[in-house]
Amino acid sequence: MKRLVVLTGAGMSAESGFATFRDSGGLWENYDVMEVASPEGWVRDKGLVNQFYNERRVQLRDSVPNGGHLALAQLEERFEVHIVTQNVDDLHERAGSSRVLHLHGELTKVESCSNSALVYDIGYRQVGLEERAEDGGQLRPHIVWFGEAVPAIEEAVNICLTADIFVIIGTSLAVYPAASLTEYVKAGAPIYLVDPHKPKINHDLDYHFINKRATAGIQELISLLV
Ligand code: APR
Repeated sequence: MKRLVVLTGAGMSAESGFATFRDSGGLWENYDVMEVASPEGWVRDKGLVNQFYNERRVQLRDSVPNGGHLALAQLEERFEVHIVTQNVDDLHERAGSSRVLHLHGELTKVESCSNSALVYDIGYRQVGLEERAEDGGQLRPHIVWFGEAVPAIEEAVNICLTADIFVIIGTSLAVYPAASLTEYVKAGAPIYLVDPHKPKINHDLDYHFINKRATAGIQELISLLV
């Protein structure tokens, strides 16, 4: 089976009702990113940050995978599909995708502030600031904040290196190191990009542009691939 590697971003979940970050009306228009998504913001106001992620978790609980998530899961019948996502939602998994790597963490998990290896699955529940990990550390969202290292990047690079076909869906490619993953696709592997807007890419990338939203764009992609 050919290896189909799919890099997804916020646009993948837009049709499930999730605002993207940088589009007009996006999340970073309504929130100060450095207040709710940085280690400094957490130190400044843990209550605000905790509330932000508690709200996101409720929203996720009430959302469902869209046709694009479902179609990518079904592609496993024909390809060895590896999804590398910048999204912190679990909609790829709920759609049935079996190989999903989260670059920026997961909303349904928390970790100890004093040991990031202590990670707990909490589902969609609200977390209180008084809650502690087994080592006594305060629980924080299991989210990679701005300025923090991306622990999964090495695994993601290795996945991208082995792609026979590479697909990019719904990301502005504005955030590094995730955006640099496109540089690891081997020469000759076709690249498809599904997005209603062409992202700015600051290196040469030869790709087939599918100028559509995720659900419709993935259908077009499938018609080209199979
Ligand atoms: N289908 C496909 N793509 C869409 C759709 C849709 N229905 N709606 C919007 N898009 C596209 C936009 O055109 C844009 O290119 O999705 C992209 C969203 O870009 P961003 O908002 O920048 O989201 P993303 O690239 O995932 O952000 C990367 O930044 O804020 C951090 O950690 C956060 O993982 C996130 C990272």
